[in-house]
Amino acid sequence: MKNYIQIRNKITKFRKKIQVSGDKSISIRCVLLASQAIGTSKIYNLLESEDVLNSLKSIKKLGINYTKVNDYYQINGLGLAGYKTYKRIKIYAGNSGTFARLILGLLANSKNEITVVGDKSLSVRDFSRVTEPLQKFGIIINSNKSKLPVKIKGSNYLRPINYFEKLGSAQCKSAVIFAALKTPGKTKIKAKKSRNHTELLLKSLKFPITVVSKKNYDIIELEGQHNFNGFNYRVPGDISSSSFFIVLTLLSKNSQLIIKNVNVNKSRIGVIKILNRMNAKILLKNKKKYKGEETSDIIVSSKSNLKGISCPKNLNSAAIDEFLIIFLVAAKAKGISTFKNLGELNKKESPRLNIAVNFLKSIGVRVKRKNNDIKIHGNPKLELNGYYHIKNFKKDHRVFMMSCIAALSLGGKWKIYDKDSINSSFPNFIKTIKKLGAKVN
Ligand code: S3P
Repeated sequence: MKNYIQIRNKITKFRKKIQVSGDKSISIRCVLLASQAIGTSKIYNLLESEDVLNSLKSIKKLGINYTKVNDYYQINGLGLAGYKTYKRIKIYAGNSGTFARLILGLLANSKNEITVVGDKSLSVRDFSRVTEPLQKFGIIINSNKSKLPVKIKGSNYLRPINYFEKLGSAQCKSAVIFAALKTPGKTKIKAKKSRNHTELLLKSLKFPITVVSKKNYDIIELEGQHNFNGFNYRVPGDISSSSFFIVLTLLSKNSQLIIKNVNVNKSRIGVIKILNRMNAKILLKNKKKYKGEETSDIIVSSKSNLKGISCPKNLNSAAIDEFLIIFLVAAKAKGISTFKNLGELNKKESPRLNIAVNFLKSIGVRVKRKNNDIKIHGNPKLELNGYYHIKNFKKDHRVFMMSCIAALSLGGKWKIYDKDSINSSFPNFIKTIKKLGAKVN
């Protein structure tokens, strides 16, 4: 089957209400925590993408049963010591840095050596950011230059640690929290602000964890070895997946979109804050609290007078997965936009900062890069009419989706390869752009 799509028409005006699939970060955390709970958990609206399905298959390898029943996944956890860590088990993480890093934390007490492997993209990413703190607990980890495959054997004598998480990485913070769940005594983490779904889920399960919020970081303390019971959870919509349609609406004429029930946790809505500073006027309506998370409907309309931004660095973490699509808005806004300290972007599923610079140049946008900072010269009149072939982006799902949005909002004749990349995070992406009127083949 062909693995590309062609887009030859800009999208015309639409007025729609849509729902996006479940949040990926929360889905993976739900699967993992349900696998550690005692008894049955029911997870509704779980994202059915490859990253999450690989998480489910992996817990099954570790002896945890799950089934899909109607509209929920039922997962039968066996408690904090419940994984069956037989010899020579290989865990396949696919494309998911989140799952690979978090499962390492949960293998803190594995009896035998377990090997974690991933796909081509994940196999070049750095794991020292998690293996270093995990080794401090007494866990034995072996790898070649901190890349996958990582071999991990737990310990019967885990010791709690004090850890300073400086990158603003929720994956590192969560891997340490997960290892601490297995460890007697109190683990203390000082963590630069990042998404906090793990902490909120554990709090909602009444696990003994405290979080003291300071301006730029959180102090997290937790007491290990407390079992918790199975739980029910309804995963809200994914703000990262929503961001593509938010930008499509902003850049298309006479359009309006309502996205129902999206997770708008403060640690995730950097994209909305940044776009609103660029004059986007995105509204959040029907705000609700759910198990510590905040959800709402998102309302967005077309905007012709977007302006450039000097993006404050303290929004980087909360918008980390959305910069590709934000850069597209900067390209169409009036004036110069600057984004700084984006080194972490090059450590994602592909080197996204490098790819973004090349992409923007290839569609005629003036862009300057200095180390990890970029400057984009916006042009509200930007319209494309050439031929654009997008390939060799390491099958990065977000590069694929951003390219589709560029095609649908800027014009030109596009052929975008590696369509299957969307399966890792958002298999319904193409169905949804079609619903908004996109003609693709
Ligand atoms: C994620 C954290 C972020 C993000 C990733 C998902 C998570 O990575 O980019 O897509 O679910 O914890 P870092 O922790 O490396 O910043």
